[in-house]
Amino acid sequence: MRLAIVGGALQGMEATYLAKKAGIETVVLDRRDTAPALSICDEPVVLNPLEDPSEARRVFDSCDAVIPACEELDLLEGLDSMMSGTDVPLLFDLESYRLSCSKNRSNEVMQSVGVPLPKPWPECGFPAIVKPSSQSGSIGVTVAMNQQDVDRGLEFIRSIGDEPVMQEFVHGKSVSIEVIGNGETARSYVTTEVVLDTNYDCKMVRCNPNILSEEDETEFRRVGKDVAERMGLKALMDVEAILTPKGLRVLEIDARIPSQTPAAILQGTGVNLLEELMTTALGRPVNREAVRGSSVYRHLVFKDGVLRSSGEKEFGKVRNPVISQGLFGSEESISDYEPGKREWRATLMHSGATEEEVDEKCRLSIERILDECSIDEFVDGVPEMV
Ligand SMILES: Nc1ncnc2c1ncn2[C@@H]1O[C@H](COP(=O)(O)OP(=O)(O)O)[C@@H](O)[C@H]1O
Ligand SMILES: [Mg+2]
Repeated sequence: MRLAIVGGALQGMEATYLAKKAGIETVVLDRRDTAPALSICDEPVVLNPLEDPSEARRVFDSCDAVIPACEELDLLEGLDSMMSGTDVPLLFDLESYRLSCSKNRSNEVMQSVGVPLPKPWPECGFPAIVKPSSQSGSIGVTVAMNQQDVDRGLEFIRSIGDEPVMQEFVHGKSVSIEVIGNGETARSYVTTEVVLDTNYDCKMVRCNPNILSEEDETEFRRVGKDVAERMGLKALMDVEAILTPKGLRVLEIDARIPSQTPAAILQGTGVNLLEELMTTALGRPVNREAVRGSSVYRHLVFKDGVLRSSGEKEFGKVRNPVISQGLFGSEESISDYEPGKREWRATLMHSGATEEEVDEKCRLSIERILDECSIDEFVDGVPEMV
């Protein structure tokens, strides 16, 4: 099988990695020749499908499916109309994506199927979260301790022409689950834990059987499936939640291929969400059974003589990465590390039978980097509020 991936940044690297692991040939299209996924795919194509639709169509016609790996609405709309009526499936559901881009609209849908959400303002009181309805990547998300903070948050949201979502500030473990639907029925996959860095960006994903209790796990899967079926999801989405002492509270859904969590799931359980998505769209889902293993997926950056854990935005600056096995004791890595380089970035993936075993492998790999590269310091940032 051959897959066209449109967009070669973080989502594109994820799709390329997953496709490779499923034995699918990859063509990555990106308008920038520095896009990192171009160096890990089988066939890089520097092209903007909106500017050169006939060349893009020629590439797409040579593939069994096309997946957008970007969040630019005009490109997504362009791909949707370009591929409709062809027999090459687009692994993307524009209508669900549009819905998931509005937190206000998706909260309404979630409420209608009984999804537990953070309490709305003003009922929730302080501290409250003030965030824009239609942004992503934590843009404009603020914690308000008083009315002045609320006003400041609202003013920013107004200045970017968005609508606010105001709700209870919930604490706990951040968790995520992916759901794939065929337009009628949907299936929830594997829960992962998302660990944040100083800038509230995801620096690590943990996949193991102990992330949620059996009861919470059942609830999370139910939530994902019910929401997807209510939306008529015909592709993949993820659901992000926080496990509070009172149970799960869902923050948002996003109907597009995410980065990070699918690779952690593949390493931990053997389930390849891209393979599931593509085979579901082609009408013959593989439905691979999840193995009860564990994994840790993490980003590191070496810069200015210091090794740091980093969020994925920082990792996204990686240049001409390669996929390799065994780097610093990892199972697999995506990185532009070379011995002696003064700046490099790496995603290291570790897997094993238990969470403890994997944590030990992570610890040893950091030790090995510090030792082999003669680095004195490892800085592992955590969010300021926690
Ligand atoms: N109600 C909330 N309580 C606590 N933290 C929140 C809440 N809403 C958002 N956050 C924090 O802000 C981040 C971004 O918010 P989210 O709703 O996921 O929007 P997006 O990822 O689209 O920017 C979350 O990952 C979480 O860390
Ligand atoms: Mg989010």
